[in-house]
Amino acid sequence: MAAKSEPIISVVPNDEGKEKFKNSENAAFYRRQIQGPNLEYRLLLDSLVLAEKGARLELLEDGTKTRLLLSLTPCKSDTVRIVIDEIRPIKTRYRVPDVLTGEPPSEQLRVESKTKDSVTLSWSSGRHQVRMWHFPFRLEVLCDQEVIVTFNSKDKLWFESLQNKPSQLEDDKNSLWRETFRNFEDIKANGPSSLGADFCLHGFQHVYGLPQHADRLRLRDTSDGEPYRLYNLDVFAADLYCRLGLYGSVPLIVAHKPDRTVGVFWLNASDTFINIQYSPSDPRDGETPPVKRRRLRPQTDAQTDVHWLSESGVIDCTILLGPAPQQLFRQYAELTGYQAMPPLFSLGYHQCRWNYNDEADVKAVDAGFDRHEIPYDVIWLDIEHTDGKRYFTWDPALFPKPAALQQHLEKKKRKMVVISDPHIKVDPDWPLYREARDGGHFVKDREGQIFRGTCWPGESSYLDFSCPETRAWYSRCHSFDKYKGSTASLFVWNDMNEPSVFNGPEQTMPKDAVHHGGWEHRELHNLYGFYQHMATADGLMSRSGGSERPFVLTRSFFAGSQRLGAIWTGDNVATWEYLKISLPMVLTLSLTGIAFCGADVGGFVKDPDPELLVRWYQAGALQPFFRGHSANDTKRREPWLFGEEVTAAIRTAIQQRYCLLPFWYTLFHFAHTAGLPPVRPLWVEFPREESTFTEDNQYMIGGALLACPVTEPGAQTVKVLLPGYDEIWYDISSAKTYKGGKSLSLPVNLDTVPVFQRGGSVVCRSTGSGTCTADYQKLPLDVTVALNSQASADGELYLDDGHSFQYRDKKAFSLRRFSMASGRLLCRSASEEGRFDCDTVVQSVSIMGVKSKPTTANVHVPGAKSVSASFEFLEACCKLKLNNLNVRVTMDWDIQIN
Ligand code: NOJ
Repeated sequence: MAAKSEPIISVVPNDEGKEKFKNSENAAFYRRQIQGPNLEYRLLLDSLVLAEKGARLELLEDGTKTRLLLSLTPCKSDTVRIVIDEIRPIKTRYRVPDVLTGEPPSEQLRVESKTKDSVTLSWSSGRHQVRMWHFPFRLEVLCDQEVIVTFNSKDKLWFESLQNKPSQLEDDKNSLWRETFRNFEDIKANGPSSLGADFCLHGFQHVYGLPQHADRLRLRDTSDGEPYRLYNLDVFAADLYCRLGLYGSVPLIVAHKPDRTVGVFWLNASDTFINIQYSPSDPRDGETPPVKRRRLRPQTDAQTDVHWLSESGVIDCTILLGPAPQQLFRQYAELTGYQAMPPLFSLGYHQCRWNYNDEADVKAVDAGFDRHEIPYDVIWLDIEHTDGKRYFTWDPALFPKPAALQQHLEKKKRKMVVISDPHIKVDPDWPLYREARDGGHFVKDREGQIFRGTCWPGESSYLDFSCPETRAWYSRCHSFDKYKGSTASLFVWNDMNEPSVFNGPEQTMPKDAVHHGGWEHRELHNLYGFYQHMATADGLMSRSGGSERPFVLTRSFFAGSQRLGAIWTGDNVATWEYLKISLPMVLTLSLTGIAFCGADVGGFVKDPDPELLVRWYQAGALQPFFRGHSANDTKRREPWLFGEEVTAAIRTAIQQRYCLLPFWYTLFHFAHTAGLPPVRPLWVEFPREESTFTEDNQYMIGGALLACPVTEPGAQTVKVLLPGYDEIWYDISSAKTYKGGKSLSLPVNLDTVPVFQRGGSVVCRSTGSGTCTADYQKLPLDVTVALNSQASADGELYLDDGHSFQYRDKKAFSLRRFSMASGRLLCRSASEEGRFDCDTVVQSVSIMGVKSKPTTANVHVPGAKSVSASFEFLEACCKLKLNNLNVRVTMDWDIQIN
């Protein structure tokens, strides 16, 4: 195949107008693989060894005589892992550690059939099979006799064996041992070590995932342009619809068709490109015999080919077989971990700016929220709070009494977050620098000297978070005795951790820098931020003796970062396009496990006009992580600075977020325990409706709410797709009823935030918002029941103390289920395990979809006489509201409506 020409996108000019970031043509390993030729691997069927943990076979490439070992491990959760490595490499190749949460329980493989051309292995009572073809080598994964995924269907398997450096390198024009980009030289001490493979996803025409790009939800065909890149980079105000890798990477592709969702997880942390090719029809030409024979039953013509190319490591990929999206989420969470259960305060509103000037400024902003009756939980300090950009210190003039400042906030149950970046100012007079240097905690350059690069403090060195001892040391830096001026209400923000190196290639660390264990940076680049996040979260946990949940926001991330905290999408711009793109960006992150995510509300760069600011607050209030943030050269934009109309609209958006926190918290419980993302593309809930497969502008919050934030200036109407032909939808502000299966043109004004509750669901809300989450915890609840066409509904509510690990260690939680059928609403326990009691009461129940005015509503609490409840019936919108109930939510009770 010829190398691709004419990239249409993805070049980001730096200040000098030159291209700062590489495109695929600038990457030697990508050029080598694309130019090929395709290699001719044959699978040596006689080498098959079946062991407890799967099968092993050898692969041989005729031309180069390369021998590879293929290991195949099927797992109990309906996933199958394929690992390919050299049989006897001259050095161990890098395998990504610390991302997978453990060895998943494997299944025993059986030989189902064997011919001279192929061998078929099966597991889970024959339902799942792997059929492997000798030549050309193919590996097909079948479910119930249907081929779902074919590995190497286009012969793209590529694996560069490690070799000793030739004593004389005459002409290194293939950049095997040395590569230059602009004026940066990359010396490849191990020579070429790249790898690649292709997968055919049969019958699929919609693939998603691969964050982080500023792009739409459905991945695009890359045939006419740049591949998607996964290489964590500090890209300020990234171009939209660009395939350049941004701050973090999750190498997971999720493919969906009406009857199946599958995933391909490519566990590799080096520079990676991915090409996607959608085919409307199966190409007949060049069809190899095995492909012809695989047609066990008629299939649709569609397919998607995904080609992964990585600079180093081994091939380690896991195919997740679904078949439903919910099963796929669990399979992925079992592999890389579940979302950490956030402390409740972190689901409230966060107020950030680069920078709040000093202690008086912080107190004034804090007081401003009270004065304007806007709830918020956390105020943030950016880099200027430090003494000369030395993290873990405070500017003595601006923040002389940091602990007292935190106590001032904590009296109102509010928190503070400070930034802590991975670069450490080179300053031999600073004890923390000396400790890191003397403890061997810095990354080295290729000559073995401590690596130095430039970042905010000027000349800096970079902590080697890949080293467990460095992580332990860094974690200890967060203890109250070491981190002077910190208190238990101080939390942390990890920024610039791609890592950003202002004078480095592509503004990051050179690939030939050296980490703990002698590993080159190229092997683990995409893990750098993940490891800092890990050490920071550990530090916050340890400072409380392991009893309190940490909160850490990170900019850079990798698969598994969900176990550690939250991420945000980085430096966006205050324009309508960036507001719009924040929706698919958050959905993509959510699909790939990173459930606690959000975009800077208002836009980081430039000044939003008041309308954009209001719309951004409304949208941000419906995203998992909700923080307003702005750059140092923007105008101040606290919510009350734009006149009463704007203040009121922002106040309403934030208050509504607080009212909905019982629901959000419950969704996070399900992310934490079942891997279900709180926000989901529509197709996750409506997997058979193709009209939902490319929907970027609206999404589901849990299974119950459909959100369609306004992202157009001057909008008078908004087009809303209400999926599901047999669904009923209720506009949550007007209680108006709509039938599903159609689009609607909804009139909007500045206050309108289109949100619909799905018939058949129950959503718990707080009856007020208080001043912060601690206040809201004491408030009574309202339960909104939205009836479906069978006049039934159900939903859950999760409760715990909101901050500690007692829900885990002592089972101090309560999971309640509300279910309504035949006019009777039950409140029951949904978990045998939970033991958490609280005084929270349900004050009111609103039932939407009630056809006629009832005559009675009786409340039964076991052991007490039943009492009749007062109610009002709004005939125009078929809504029944039961008031003054005051029944404890952790107790069982029924309400009978006749
Ligand atoms: C870059 C981050 O993305 C931004 O949020 C922060 O304000 C600046 N660094 C300064 O720390």
